[in-house]
Amino acid sequence: MWTTRWRAWYLPPMRAVLLLLPLTLLAAAPSGEEVYQKRCSGCHERTDPRIPPRTSLQQMTSQRIMRALDFGAMMTVAYPLSRDERQAVASFLGKNVPAAQPSPSALCSDRAVKLAASSRSAWNGWSPTADNARFQSAEAAGLSIDGVKNLKLKWAFGFDGDVTAFAQPTVMDGQVFVGSAGGVIHAMRADSGCLQWTFQASGPVRSSILAVPLGRQHALLFGDQTGWFYALRAETGKLLWKRKVEEHDAARLTGAAMAHDGVVFVPVASWEETRSLDPTYPCCTFRGSVVALRIRDGAQVWKSYLVGVPKENGKTARGTPQWGPSGAGVWAAPTLDAKRGVMYIATGDNYSSPATELSDAIIALELKTGRIVWSKQTLPGDAYNSSCGTDKASCPKEDGPDYDFGSSAILTALPNGRELLLAGQKSGMVYALDPARKGEIVWQQAIARATPTTATQVGVQWGMASDGQKAYAAINSVGRIRPTDPLDTRRSVLDPKQGGGLVALRVADGSRVWEAPPIVCTANAPDGCSPAQSAAVTGMPGVVFSASMDGHLRAYSTESGAILWDFNTVRDFTTVNGVKAKGGSIDGPGVVVVKGMVFVNSGYSRFGGMPGNVLLAFTTE
Ligand code: HEC
Repeated sequence: MWTTRWRAWYLPPMRAVLLLLPLTLLAAAPSGEEVYQKRCSGCHERTDPRIPPRTSLQQMTSQRIMRALDFGAMMTVAYPLSRDERQAVASFLGKNVPAAQPSPSALCSDRAVKLAASSRSAWNGWSPTADNARFQSAEAAGLSIDGVKNLKLKWAFGFDGDVTAFAQPTVMDGQVFVGSAGGVIHAMRADSGCLQWTFQASGPVRSSILAVPLGRQHALLFGDQTGWFYALRAETGKLLWKRKVEEHDAARLTGAAMAHDGVVFVPVASWEETRSLDPTYPCCTFRGSVVALRIRDGAQVWKSYLVGVPKENGKTARGTPQWGPSGAGVWAAPTLDAKRGVMYIATGDNYSSPATELSDAIIALELKTGRIVWSKQTLPGDAYNSSCGTDKASCPKEDGPDYDFGSSAILTALPNGRELLLAGQKSGMVYALDPARKGEIVWQQAIARATPTTATQVGVQWGMASDGQKAYAAINSVGRIRPTDPLDTRRSVLDPKQGGGLVALRVADGSRVWEAPPIVCTANAPDGCSPAQSAAVTGMPGVVFSASMDGHLRAYSTESGAILWDFNTVRDFTTVNGVKAKGGSIDGPGVVVVKGMVFVNSGYSRFGGMPGNVLLAFTTE
């Protein structure tokens, strides 16, 4: 529908906005001092034991301050700031020195990275298989149910200076590749956690890394949280190419890429929704898309937009122009259906009026051209942005309910050969669609329902897993309540009693097979504990892994939902790289199981969760 083959044909929406503004506004880059005075000094010039004074901020490096703004303690404060403003205030305040290098003791003695031409035991990208079932075969998992019950921590690795660890590792041939909130890509040995090389990306990297053969070596493909997409030489960590796949200032590449036939497909989302917290921000102009790039050199093959070109279509009560349509971001990895020559993507909500046909939808795109073959919208009329949850200044008339698809559809087949696409939505609904009949709904099942204190994340957040017979869906239902301490100035905190649970549905008809109840936080759990299970689920024969915002990683029986193993990551760890590290809430991607080892990242300070900065590796030995 809105397919643009070549970038030259399209005018990026932000540029379109800027062209309409008087030229004087374009004159100067933002002044870091002005941003500081306007956005930071109110708190940081105040004497309050909880707030570091300006003089301590000046002791930090500008990169570290950038991290605090992007994915750290200041994330909620920085939402309304553009990248230029963040950069300006970070370099105004902080020390402008090169990024710290890993300590020599963290490096492997043999730093060679060797990958086989094709790897039988791997977890490469979002799921071990391009059907996005997130299910590891018995052979590749290399673990029995008894082995899972006996898992022990083998090593911990700390991400220096981070308060969030949210990138799912890719593991193959005894190698780990993993991104970080600080934007550092790490190549490390799976058995010991020693480092072979690191690469500094321009922004935080949470998308899982996809390794593909390129010539006699391999390319690592991933995106960052500022719209850049990269190809690195896996063997050396050297940049092959990088490309900005979306010019919009708020673009985020969160979902993992999928590759097929020399082309990589990149899902594009954004955090523009949160910009509307600033009542002077003209909301909204971001357009969700999928971009196809040639792996060899990064040349764009096609770009397919999922929303039309935004136009100014009104003003808010205080006179801020409003733009639409917008949104329909793609947060999750595309699902490959090579047989039909298509991929399936899942979209999020619109950010402004008018709501459109391709938001909150599962869409089949032709691999060769990006043409939309069919789409199935499960919830029409969902336009929402962050102002709807605060002063409503820029809230569209649709006012939510903000029920994105945040996770990939799973392509699976019944014993009779009938194929189904399983999709879990934030609404609490899980759908089975028929890929042979334009996404017709075969069954739907509610796994959770909204309550007055549930945030907008009711059901499936980051992804389900399926072994073909059953689909395993974790329940988010994170709750927000007012702080109990009257001196606490935060508007809301996580409810330690609400959210969580894991449901097994029969793939054939959507009926419930079992439900593992939520496990509420203990009375002495730290601030930011929530039983919500929003992280993606992982399966292997007999076992489902589901991690929680309470910081626990749990293994459940696929037969009964009984808990087989439970590890609490909320503690300090001695790390192999000597960095001080602790675990916290687990959110975003799930665990990875490869060749007798289990890997998980812990720490998620977003939404008031418990911070942490650790990658953990478990084995039975
Ligand atoms: C509403 C009050 C408030 C505002 C506004 C605010 N801060 Fe903060 N800032 C805090 C508090 C409180 C902490 C301590 C947080 C903690 O330790 O968890 C903090 C901590 C920090 C830190 C240290 C984070 C770390 O990882 O150690 C940095 C850097 C920082 N702020 C930068 C900024 C910048 C830059 C701005 C303006 C863009 C800003 N802050 C605006 C309250 C504020």
